[in-house]
This record gives sequence, structure tokens and C-alpha cells, in this order.
Amino acid sequence: MKIAVIGTGYVGMVTAAGLAELGHRVIGADKDGEKIGRILSGVVPIYEPGLDELLAANIQKGRLSFSAELNPVIRDADVIFVCVGTPQHADGSADMSQIEEVSRLIADNLDRYKLVVEKSTVPVKTSHWIKRTIGLHKKTDTAFDIASNPEFLREGSAVSDFLHPDRIIVGVETDRARDILCGIYGRFKDRLVVTNIDTAELIKHASNSFLALKISYINLISNICEKTDANVEQVAEGMGLDPRIGGRFLKAGIGYGGSCFPKDIKALVKIGEDLGVDMSLLKEADRINFDRVRLVIEKVKQALWILKDKRIAILGLAFKPETDDIREAPSINIIRELVREGARLRLYDPQATDNMKLVFSPEPGRLEYFASPYLAAEGTNALLLLTEWEEFAGLELDKIKGTMANPIIIDGRNIFAPAALRKLGFEYYSIGRK
Ligand code: UDX
Repeated sequence: MKIAVIGTGYVGMVTAAGLAELGHRVIGADKDGEKIGRILSGVVPIYEPGLDELLAANIQKGRLSFSAELNPVIRDADVIFVCVGTPQHADGSADMSQIEEVSRLIADNLDRYKLVVEKSTVPVKTSHWIKRTIGLHKKTDTAFDIASNPEFLREGSAVSDFLHPDRIIVGVETDRARDILCGIYGRFKDRLVVTNIDTAELIKHASNSFLALKISYINLISNICEKTDANVEQVAEGMGLDPRIGGRFLKAGIGYGGSCFPKDIKALVKIGEDLGVDMSLLKEADRINFDRVRLVIEKVKQALWILKDKRIAILGLAFKPETDDIREAPSINIIRELVREGARLRLYDPQATDNMKLVFSPEPGRLEYFASPYLAAEGTNALLLLTEWEEFAGLELDKIKGTMANPIIIDGRNIFAPAALRKLGFEYYSIGRK
């Protein structure tokens, strides 16, 4: 089987490398020739632990290559994984224009049977549109199948998620498509779940929205903890021991970000509402998440009162650790609000600084980027922790304290233990615990 993976974003890159690692012959393709040029010269366009090595090893074994020539890549492929972006429209719905563009290219190049697999997160019923588009535009009477194989990988652990999946959802409408996809994932046959296509498409949106809901739920509970003597971490631990609930994704904080949860929950709301379903449950989860920014700013004000000209160090810009991705990162809205209040910001992140500079350009004395957390903390009135990078848990807090103007830490991710920080002489604020 020759496999083409169209799109070289996070999902496309990991899928191409992962499928090659499973032993398949894979070509990753993207219309962005410059990007393909960089990949071919060994520059991986994203930071993802283990991806560089996986790419290099499979390119070297001759199982993986990349191309910007979409037509021949599609013609040559037996199976085409569609991993292009589905960005968001203002009304929350997904912009499907790139999926349509690829569908038309597939139609143009349908010279023999091909299986088209959607991997991008798409609204339920998208396969119907892909099928219709290919059917309308194909130039020969060639048969083809559509399948849905949603991707569940998490940024920061995407390679390991791909190679050690909890489950692989295979949504198909023919035996032929089922056999091909189950063959591709043969190594994981005990984790294959075969459904119809609508079900597979919905599993993805329903899973991500449920996880987002779980986070908003614990954040809501943390608001109650803050007004009482309850401790949200212990509440989450106590809840999570019930296997029906489970302890994961119960970490209270500054809210979820990233390329999936914020977008997917809004998309599912839109999908449901278009179908006449009352989606207030998910709308509320999204609103709770949005409100986390206000909560953080309130905590900063509780510590510093007037923010104008206060120097604040921000450690952690990425939406989560082990990634350089800042898409929908809560840090963006928090920084925007602090800038609006006139604070002077000193920013640090181990990986995401370059991306953040594209959103907030450096401005001497007002918003600056630093190469270490210690430099960022120098002379500041407070230090704000927004991403739980492991590096931060190991900070030499005495050293930090020595350089800060006021030893105040506002910990949006509950990295530190309150008692230990207070013992060190910090005024310490965290989420849902005293
Ligand atoms: C998510 C899904 O987990 C993955 O299955 C899907 O394929 C893509 O979307 P990702 O966006 O990479 O993956 O990150 P994830 O680890 O799920 O975290 C998402 C956001 O939720 C982050 O901002 C994180 O900080 C936040 N989060 C996560 C919490 O605030 N609390 C938690 O307990 C867990």
C-alpha cells in the first residue's frame, strides 16, 4: 500500500512519520512548497518531542518522503489521509475549504480505486461532502471509498500517542475500506473500533468536548474551593478515585487552550444547534473557560492593586508544556488584558517565545522576552506562572526571590505547594486552594 498524507501540520507530520514507523511507504505532501523544502532539508516545522528522530529514522530507511507536488502524489497513492487544517469561522463552525480543495484534487487524479481517509477533525457528515465532491468532479468511472479515522493525539506526547494508542476509530461504509484501514493498523488490532462514518466523526468531537467539559467542571468546583476551605486538588483526587470518573483531566487551572478543545467545543455547539439540538451544556463549559482569564487578572489585582507600570514576569506562554504551540493559549488573553491595564511585562517560555513574538512584538520597557526565567523575574513586582513546564517546578526559588522587587507568585497551574512557598517568604496565590 502506498500512503499519501496530505497536510504537514501537527497531525499530518505525526501521522506521516507514525505510519512510516508502522512499516508503510508514506509520502507527506503539502501545497506549501517552502515548508516542504524546509522539511526536506531536515528542519521540522514544529516542536514535538521524538518527532525529529522518528522522521529522520524513517526517511533514512526509505519509507518516508515529502513532496509539494500534490497531483502525482495523489495519483501514486492507494490510500490518502487528509490532514489539512479546518480553522474556525467567526460563528464557531469549521472552515472546510481546504478539505474541499483536496477532495477536488483527488477527483482530478482518481485513476484507480483509492481510499480517502479523513483524519482532520471535521463536523459529522463531512465524509458525505467529500464523497459528493469527488463523485461530482471525477473524470473517470473509478470506484473510491471514504473513511473517517479521527486523530486523538495530544501535542507534546503526539508521537507516543500515535505509537501507543488507547483506541483507533475506523469509520467505514464498505468492507473493502474496513479491510484496508484495519490492515494499516494491524499492529493495534485489539484496539480497533469499527463504526459507521457518522459515528466515527462524532466520536472525535464528542471526546474532545467531554474532556473540555471535565476541565471546566473542575474549574467551576475550584471557584467554590476558593470561597471555602476546600482544596481543589484533594477534591479532584477524591473524585478521580471513583473509576467511573477517573482522575485525569481534573486539573484546575487557567483554562484549556490549544488547537482542539476551544475550537471543537464551539464546532460541536454549532453542529448541534444547526440540527436543532439545545447545546447550552457545552456553551456553559466554554463560557466558564473564557472566564478563567478574568479570574487570573483578579488574582493579580488582589496582589498588586493597580497594575499600571507594575512589572510582572510571566513564565509559560505555550497552551501546555512540551510544545511551542500558542494557539488559543490562555496566556494570550491574559497578556492582552495586562497590557491594557498598563503593566510592564517580562516574558519567558522554554519553546514558545518565537511564536508569541508574532502576536506581541517586543517593546522595550513594556513587553520584553527573556532567555531565562531568572532574567524575566528580575526587578518584578509579581511573577505569574501560566504553563506547568517541568523546568519551573525545579526553579531555584531563593535565587528568584532575591532578584524580585516583591516576592509575589501567582501560580495559575498549581505548580508549587502553598506551605513551602510561604515558608520561603513568598506571598503565594494559586487556583482553588489556600
Ligand atoms: C487534545 C486532546 O487531548 C487530544 O486527544 C486531541 O487529539 C487534541 O486535543 P491537546 O490540545 O494537545 O490534545 O492537549 P491536552 O493535553 O488535551 O490539553 C488541552 C488543554 O487543556 C491545555 O490547555 C491544558 O493545559 C488543559 N488542561 C488539560 C487543563 O487545564 N486541565 C487538565 O486536567 C488537562
